[in-house]
Amino acid sequence: MIQPDNFACHNVHLETERLKLRPFKDADFDTAVPFYRDPEFLNAIEESPPDEPVTKEYLKKAGKFMRDSGFLFAIVEKANGRAIGEVCLQWMNLERAKIAGEKIMRLPIAIWDKTLWGKGYGKEVVRCLMAHAFGKLEIDRFCPVDVPVDNVRSQALWRSLGLTVSREADGGKMLDFEITRIEYEKIN
Ligand SMILES: CC(C)(COP(=O)(O)OP(=O)(O)OC[C@H]1O[C@@H](n2cnc3c(N)ncnc32)[C@H](O)[C@@H]1OP(=O)(O)O)[C@@H](O)C(=O)NCCC(=O)NCCS
Repeated sequence: MIQPDNFACHNVHLETERLKLRPFKDADFDTAVPFYRDPEFLNAIEESPPDEPVTKEYLKKAGKFMRDSGFLFAIVEKANGRAIGEVCLQWMNLERAKIAGEKIMRLPIAIWDKTLWGKGYGKEVVRCLMAHAFGKLEIDRFCPVDVPVDNVRSQALWRSLGLTVSREADGGKMLDFEITRIEYEKIN
């Protein structure tokens, strides 16, 4: 049964060594808003930052889209129960990355608090969700897309887990990454 505060409308709960992934709640948007007003954070995720300061309603609109096309999670530190980011295991919605007959997922991810970047949290989350996607959801291909070319951190994350660049997009401003089931099984 879906609880009223379960914005994500799923009941998948996952765990890594230091983190929990739980369905995203409405209240998590309130936690996220101040981080979405940090230019360094916004620059990492958006090609061109929004003109107006980010509001809860703005984030909810994007959140609804993700919720309707996949599994939206809050990333929670086990040590203190604090929500520190969002991640969505999302069915591929970009025509350029679809392949007829294949189940393909993408993975928008953001750790909101930049003091927590580079501590291995991103890798823990993605490793866990790749295992879930290939193991439980039986996907054929995992394809994080629209990674800004100047987002070195994000690119390092995908490369460290065995993904490679599949194409450039938006006139070379964005990169799409991928790993196939066969490649994933070879290294896991
Ligand atoms: C991108 C993001 C999810 C990565 O998570 P993270 O916890 O910071 O990254 P990790 O510490 O798990 O590092 C993953 C790999 O990248 C490497 N890495 C991390 N920061 C790096 C940096 N600044 N430069 C080069 N490599 C870096 C790590 O060494 C690690 O590789 P290794 O295991 O081979 O050593 C996180 O930084 C984030 O949320 N950033 C803001 C939002 C964002 O950019 N989202 C992605 C949009 S496409």
